[in-house]
Formats: sequence, C-alpha cells, structure tokens
Amino acid sequence: MKNHKSFEHIGILTSGGDTPGLNAAIRGLGKTATTGSAMQIIGFRDGFRGLMENRSVRLDDRMLSGILTLGGTILGTSRDKPHKMPMGGKFVDMTDVLVENYHKNHLDALVCLGGGGTLKNAYHLSRKGLNVITLPKTIDNDIVGTDVTFGFDTAMGIAVDAIDRLHSTASSHHRIIIVEIMGHKVGWLALGAGMAGGADAILIPEIPYTIEKLAESILERVSRGKRFSIVAVAEGAITLECARKIHSMEKELEKAEGDKRSSIKKQLKQLDSEFRGSTIQMAEKLQQITKLETRVTILGHLQRGGTPSAADRILATRLGTDTAEYIRNEQFGIMVGVDRDKTKAVSMEEVAGKINYVPPDHPWVISARNLGTSFGD
Ligand code: F6P
Repeated sequence: MKNHKSFEHIGILTSGGDTPGLNAAIRGLGKTATTGSAMQIIGFRDGFRGLMENRSVRLDDRMLSGILTLGGTILGTSRDKPHKMPMGGKFVDMTDVLVENYHKNHLDALVCLGGGGTLKNAYHLSRKGLNVITLPKTIDNDIVGTDVTFGFDTAMGIAVDAIDRLHSTASSHHRIIIVEIMGHKVGWLALGAGMAGGADAILIPEIPYTIEKLAESILERVSRGKRFSIVAVAEGAITLECARKIHSMEKELEKAEGDKRSSIKKQLKQLDSEFRGSTIQMAEKLQQITKLETRVTILGHLQRGGTPSAADRILATRLGTDTAEYIRNEQFGIMVGVDRDKTKAVSMEEVAGKINYVPPDHPWVISARNLGTSFGD
C-alpha cells in the first residue's frame, strides 16, 4: 500500500464569475478530505484577494452542511488576479504576499475553483512553487482538457426555460424575439440552449453571421406561413465583417513590435467591446430589413443564479471528492478534468490560456443545420 504524506491544511478558494455547483464542489472536497482524517480545510474569502488579505474561514462539518443545493459560493468570489491586484486605483503585483500567506497558513495545497482566468492565475502560483489544483467551473464550458465544466448544465437549463417562455409570447404577437445568452467568447451555451429550446436561428462567435443571411432565413420562414421566429444569440456572436477585421488585426499583431503592438492591442480591445453588447443594434437592423416587429431579451446574470441542476450537483460533487484523492497522491500543478464517467489529472501548463471553442462542424451544429436552423452564414 502507498504510504501517503500526511496533508494537514488544504486551502480552497472560488474565483471568477460565480457558478451553480461551487458549493457542491466545496462540500465534496471538504467532506471527503476531513472525514476520518486530521486534515483541515481553510476557505479564503473572495478569491485570490482573500488569500492576499489573509481572510479565511475554517470549513468544518457545520460549515459544509446544507450547502449542496445553494447557488453562488459560500466563500464569495472576485475577478482579482495575484499579479494584477486592484489596489487604490492601480494594479499591483501581489504574488509574493499570496505566496507568503500560503506558507503562514501552513498550507499543504491550494484548490482553486474557477474558469479560464482562474486557471491562468493558479498556474502562475504553481510556478512560484505552491501545490495548486484547479477544478473547471464556468457556465461558458470554454475550458480545454475537460469534457464539460460544472455550471454549464444549470445555465443551459435556465436559458432553455427562458426560450420556452419566449415562444408563446413571440407566437401570440407574431414577432421576432432575440434572446441574448451568455458564454463569453464561445457559443456552447447559445448553441445548446438554442437547440434544446428549438430556436429558429442560432448565432455563435465561432460561426460569424451577416444580418442579410439572418433576415433571409426569417423571411423564408414567413413564406412558409410561420408568423414568429426565435433567435438565440451568444453574447460574443460577431458579424462576418467584424470577424474579418479581427483576423487581419491579429495577423498584424503577430508581426508588430513595441508601440505598434500596443496600438493594435488597443484597437482589438476597442473592437471587442464594440461588438459585445451589440444585440440591440442588431435587432434594430433586423426589424428594418424584415419589417417584422422585433424584441430583445437579455438573460444576463439570471443564467448564473440559483440552485444547481441535478447534473451539476453530481458533477461538482464528483470533482470535489476526487480532488481529495489527487491531493493525497501529491498530484499538483493540475486541473481535475472530466473524462466521460471518470476524472483525470490534466497538466495546467497544457491547458492554461487555451479556449475550448465550438468546432463549426460539431455534431450539435450539424444536427441543428439538418433541422433547418439558420446560423446566419
Ligand atoms: O464567465 C462567466 C460569465 O458569466 C460570462 O458568460 C460572461 O461574459 C461574464 O461571466 C460576465 O462577467 P461579470 O459577471 O463579471 O459581468
């Protein structure tokens, strides 16, 4: 039998946007690690900021009870980064303070529950010599190295419920209803919710659209006697024109140096913020072209709120309970990924900074196209 090192103090924090299932994962890890062992779980408040400010709470059995079904995170969260901590109006590199507090708390390991940003920050701390493990949580499902992330199923369910409800009002008023769905720069949520909700058009960042093609598909429905249409739009969806601009700027960026480089980066950021949140303008154009009354519903943070779905409770619990085993086996510098019905250790180095985009020929896309769903392309 393997002789395990004894781990006594495990730190845990939740970082980035909150996601249903975070508390289930905290509970899964906490209960597994502490049952019948001397291990203590120390939670840090509000993400990496809590570790920097040494704001902690002991997660004992009482704290870990009754949280399985709770949305949000009992620890609180923030988007603060160790190396770019907002401090008095400036960003300061506070990495050394976090490292110091890790040691002051006698931590043997730090578990960070988060999405893509958290993964990069955790990898940064791991390169400073800390024993770090991450768990993939995000409603966006945009993390590489895992079949799925927890929170995705719940958010998709909420968006589907919204689309179901929008159907009856769209149909009664003979309107186009555009529903904007979160997902950051990827289209998993809009695609999944759009398909499950029977949207007539789905716009995702990975398949740039033109307003003309979208309008054409809606008018074609009208010609078949359909008097309403539902369009599911990912918040990061972009027009073909915008996608081409971004592509050529990214090419320029590859060659650029110094001032030129920072100026292109600025322009890219500007472009990014212009196309994001442009659903209302898109709806106005669509109404002008089709002459059909059009309304917009932006689901926003509703998709992140409330209790996790059964699937997310199970997934987050599994990830949490398995993490205790990875700690005992001293596997650090890893993300615990999902691999069908198992979990696997994925090197952070391999996945940090990468994005899991929807492949444009993904089976979901093909299936939707076979049904006649428009992607506006
Ligand atoms: O990453 C999760 C997410 O909900 C994205 O879908 C969305 O773009 C972003 O977070 C919103 O962030 P915030 O809550 O900070 O506004």
